[in-house]
Amino acid sequence: MTSKSGDQFLFKSAELAEGEFREASVEADGNPLWLVVTRHNGTPRAWLNVCPHQGRSLNWAPDKFLVDPAGRLVCAAHGAVFDPADGACVSGPCQGAALRAVEVSEAHGEIRCAPEPPG
Ligand code: FES
Repeated sequence: MTSKSGDQFLFKSAELAEGEFREASVEADGNPLWLVVTRHNGTPRAWLNVCPHQGRSLNWAPDKFLVDPAGRLVCAAHGAVFDPADGACVSGPCQGAALRAVEVSEAHGEIRCAPEPPG
């Protein structure tokens, strides 16, 4: 067993396809923390589901995210575009900013994260 204490289950590996964006919530310091989770080049990645432009959720409905033809995440509020490799905003009103990354791991068919409470 290698999971760290505080790790929280997000998805089974099979529930997160390459290029898919999913919404998840975990608990940090007793508060819910909403995440956007994707799989990019085979590796799961997660960020806080908070757009650096105006702090809104990136999705347009529960677990529904916009994706452009290049497979990049698009904020539903004003169209900021984020690179799934690193969460950087590559165009739109907060170009040059980035989503806040959350550490995720994948082992034994599960994707888990160890969220840090917002500072
Ligand atoms: S809040 Fe995301 S682009 Fe404005």
